[in-house]
Amino acid sequence: MNVKKKNLFRLLDLKKLRMVNRPIEKAHGLPNECYVNKNYFIIERKKIFENKWIVIGIGSSVPNIGDIKPFDLLGIPLIILRDRNQKVRVYHNVCSHRGYKIIQKEGKIKNLIRCPYHSWSYDFNGKLIATPHIGGMNKHNCNKFDKSRSNLKEIKSKVWLDLIFVNLNNNELDFDTYIKPLSDRWEKFWPKNDRKLIVFSRDYGHFNLNAKTNWKFAIENYCESYHLPWVHPGLNSYSKIKDHYHIKGLPNRFAGQGTIVYNPKFKGKLNLPSFPNWPKNKEHVAEYVALFPNVMLGIHKDHFYAYWLEPISNNTTKEHMEIYYVGKDAANSAKYKSLREQNFKLWKDVQKEDLNIIEGMQMGRKSPSYNGGNFSPVMDNATHHFHKWVANNLLK
Ligand code: FES
Ligand SMILES: [Fe+2]
Repeated sequence: MNVKKKNLFRLLDLKKLRMVNRPIEKAHGLPNECYVNKNYFIIERKKIFENKWIVIGIGSSVPNIGDIKPFDLLGIPLIILRDRNQKVRVYHNVCSHRGYKIIQKEGKIKNLIRCPYHSWSYDFNGKLIATPHIGGMNKHNCNKFDKSRSNLKEIKSKVWLDLIFVNLNNNELDFDTYIKPLSDRWEKFWPKNDRKLIVFSRDYGHFNLNAKTNWKFAIENYCESYHLPWVHPGLNSYSKIKDHYHIKGLPNRFAGQGTIVYNPKFKGKLNLPSFPNWPKNKEHVAEYVALFPNVMLGIHKDHFYAYWLEPISNNTTKEHMEIYYVGKDAANSAKYKSLREQNFKLWKDVQKEDLNIIEGMQMGRKSPSYNGGNFSPVMDNATHHFHKWVANNLLK
């Protein structure tokens, strides 16, 4: 480790981080610097966002072969591409020649990922196949240059429930093993075959919110139902705090809450189609799980959503909501449009209510009198679970 890096890591107050790990009655939450310090954000990029499985977008945003888009993960430029076999591929978005950021806006390409600077070009597999004039005028090859060593750098990726996950450092468990505990948990009311039926809604499937807050506040807020009566009076009118239960994933990779009474009343006589194997005695069960670090999932008998976070800086986060229904008809036909619209509004209103809270949390963390606070030993279990996950990844 070089000196600069060493100094950076000195920023971490190890004593305070270890206090997060105490039993919940005695634990403190993550210290203020984890939210307000710009340099801490760099440590987090190294220890969390380069090491874990991270969501960077959805497959439905590159639906066809040749669809390509850039995405910056905490400043690291990436390319998302749909290849000839319909597979989503992710590459580092930097030309192997002089380092130009190749893809700067989304679009469609035919055969080549071409760098605009000197026109070096890569095929869909990232292989460098054209190096015009590399050996002098009209000499497109050069025996002093081995093309095969200059391909685009591919990043380990996996699409699950349409979400594109990447593991930058290729050091995490393989994705299927990583996701198994959550996937198994949902098998009982959302078997794997049903999950294949999800279709992204083109008209009411997506919104963004720009939050003036650290990304972690969105996750910890999502983990608990404690705030429901005060922050979400609408939601609380049919799905009350007492109807909720806590979820703590083991091994520690996710946490959240569930309700046994999810039953919103929408206008009209129709109902949205349900997942075919969702058990009848669990019709009103819904679960809300934050899969650490940056995606919040919601499953219901008739729709699924993923709310994923794009951290921009220590105090700015872009939130992306993606909503899915059961089959093409439910997701895109005129017949269900009004229900999609009402459901979209419901979730947007809820997320806006949460936005006010998580922005206020960021403001509060500027107080030097706060030490990470306390947890309710009963109501804040899932939040504590997340704080421990962060602290332990920083302590590693
Ligand atoms: S930097 Fe890309 S071709 Fe030169
Ligand atoms: Fe909330």
